[in-house]
Amino acid sequence: MGRPSRVYHLVDGHPRPWGECVAPVAERVHAAPPKAISFEEAVASYGEGIARHLSASRAASLARPEAQAEGRGMARGTPRTAQERANAFASEIVGTYAPAHRNRHRERSSRVPKMVRDVPGEDSHGDPVLVAGASGFLGRAIVRALARQGRQVRGLVRDSARADWVRADGGIPVVGDVLDRESVLRATRSCRGIVHVAANPPATQGPEDLARRVRVEGARNLVEAARVNRVERLVIGSGYWVYPSQPGTVTEDSVVRPEGEAKNNYDAERVALDAGISGSLEVMVVRPGMVYGDGAWFRPTFDAIRSGEYRTIDRGENLWSFVSLEDTGAGFATVLESGRPFQVYNLVDGHPRPWGEFVAHVAERVHVAPPKAISFEEAVASYGEGIARHLSANRAASSAKLEALGWRPRYPSFPDGVDSLIAEIERRPGRT
Ligand SMILES: NC(=O)c1ccc[n+]([C@@H]2O[C@H](COP(=O)([O-])OP(=O)(O)OC[C@H]3O[C@@H](n4cnc5c(N)ncnc54)[C@H](OP(=O)(O)O)[C@@H]3O)[C@@H](O)[C@H]2O)c1
Repeated sequence: MGRPSRVYHLVDGHPRPWGECVAPVAERVHAAPPKAISFEEAVASYGEGIARHLSASRAASLARPEAQAEGRGMARGTPRTAQERANAFASEIVGTYAPAHRNRHRERSSRVPKMVRDVPGEDSHGDPVLVAGASGFLGRAIVRALARQGRQVRGLVRDSARADWVRADGGIPVVGDVLDRESVLRATRSCRGIVHVAANPPATQGPEDLARRVRVEGARNLVEAARVNRVERLVIGSGYWVYPSQPGTVTEDSVVRPEGEAKNNYDAERVALDAGISGSLEVMVVRPGMVYGDGAWFRPTFDAIRSGEYRTIDRGENLWSFVSLEDTGAGFATVLESGRPFQVYNLVDGHPRPWGEFVAHVAERVHVAPPKAISFEEAVASYGEGIARHLSANRAASSAKLEALGWRPRYPSFPDGVDSLIAEIERRPGRT
């Protein structure tokens, strides 16, 4: 029993250098030991508070003399060294969430508890949130946005090789698969929130319809894990393609008519919303528009425009709704934090523009002639009807509902965001 009016340290009694703790983590994920930077560089990169926190020396003593004499408290039960705990911590992060076919990690970590440990920093707050699809285009931006807000973010990755991406984005990697219920259950333990943007590109869709399973069965597994672990909030990432092509402004109340891949997104929405309504889990849906960043659809489109191969359909006068990748991450973070339960939020920059204008702008920026036009019939013959219809669809969406939560796009219309994106691509031609 603690004595009244006393303060007790809760430490293991074996202070060790921080550098000695991170080295075994690197070893576990088969990476070189972290490189060092100077204190001044750390201040420049992370801010003074974090730099001072990371370089602080606090070798705390464990117990008051009276507690040790009485054999109380942690002094009795902490036989492990800091090195052993660091190893166990690394195993827990990268290993215990591996599905059955990744037994190498399971064997290594068989003697450590299967709890995710978080890495609370001075600036992180609240319970952890899990991003499923953390190594993907949207997922990485969401991890970055949440980490920037100081949240403890776990990033679900299928392969520990992608763990570095999550770390680089400010999150803590956990290896798992949304189709592996056990791994999802473990990854969401003690979480307050979940974001589901795990997706399998339709191009890799096999006979089992993996693209559909990752979205829909993945949503079901996350809902179930949320229930077991009493997670409070779940955000399902979807897409504004659930709305049909239409004149006028697309709001969250507009009719939906999901087709093709959009049906997977829509069914994932339904699975989560229906399950949430009948329980205590608060479910929100985010429907981003055309997200431009260095990846996904933008990069191949950019390359085709630059090489002169790109073709618009007719004059490309149909309106699309765009949003930058950075604003997308921030939008998801806003909905996770402040979205009203069981509501859908469009995530677009609020200035729909003709698709033809978008591609002409990109062409001008890279000093090539504007793309030539082909007719709808020629597009059908070249790309198939589905793509031709998608490219010529009209979807001018509004984000007013999301803006009412306080979200404001940093790039309120595409030219600003695209110009800085192109500048970044030209500085660093490889993909992010
Ligand atoms: N890109 C856009 O412009 C856009 C716009 C609106 C909506 N959306 C929607 O947003 C969602 C995500 O799109 P995205 O562009 O970010 O896709 P993406 O770049 O292909 O990322 C998908 C992520 O899901 C992960 N994943 C795949 N199968 C998994 C599984 N079984 N378990 C756990 N993780 C798994 C992938 O991991 P690996 O790294 O291991 O492959 C990857 O991290 C999709 O539903 C898409 O329709 C996208």
